[in-house]
Amino acid sequence: MSVAGALAGCRSQSPLTAQQAEGQMLFHQRCEHCHGENDLNLKPPPPDIRGVLTRAKLPDGEPATDLNVMRVVVNGKNKMPPFMGRFTEPQMEALLAYLHTHAD
Ligand code: HEC
Repeated sequence: MSVAGALAGCRSQSPLTAQQAEGQMLFHQRCEHCHGENDLNLKPPPPDIRGVLTRAKLPDGEPATDLNVMRVVVNGKNKMPPFMGRFTEPQMEALLAYLHTHAD
């Protein structure tokens, strides 16, 4: 394999599973307007959390685990509102599955 091919291979996006794709849709609908567009003009801007579960740590330094992300989503954090009861269990699992991917 050529070097260019190897690099492209690293960056290529494998197609998402149905669950990951559902999570991506939820993310676009419920999270991205803050974590991306920052439509509320929050200062400091909400961190970029796409693919956050492929990293070792969350932006605040906690280990990037499903449980820690779920806690932030359910309870909110500072200027992030709590989503308690706003996602069904399968939706929450889909959201976490999406955050384990490198997809936009
Ligand atoms: C109203 C704007 C807003 C929305 C909507 C929002 N967030 Fe956040 N989010 C924030 C802000 C602001 C922070 C930074 C909180 C802090 O550390 O002070 C944050 C932080 C986070 C963090 C990092 C927490 C940490 O401990 O480092 C995660 C993960 C996260 N959000 C996930 C999500 C997910 C998933 C959604 C969609 C379900 C979402 N957020 C929706 C504003 C938002």
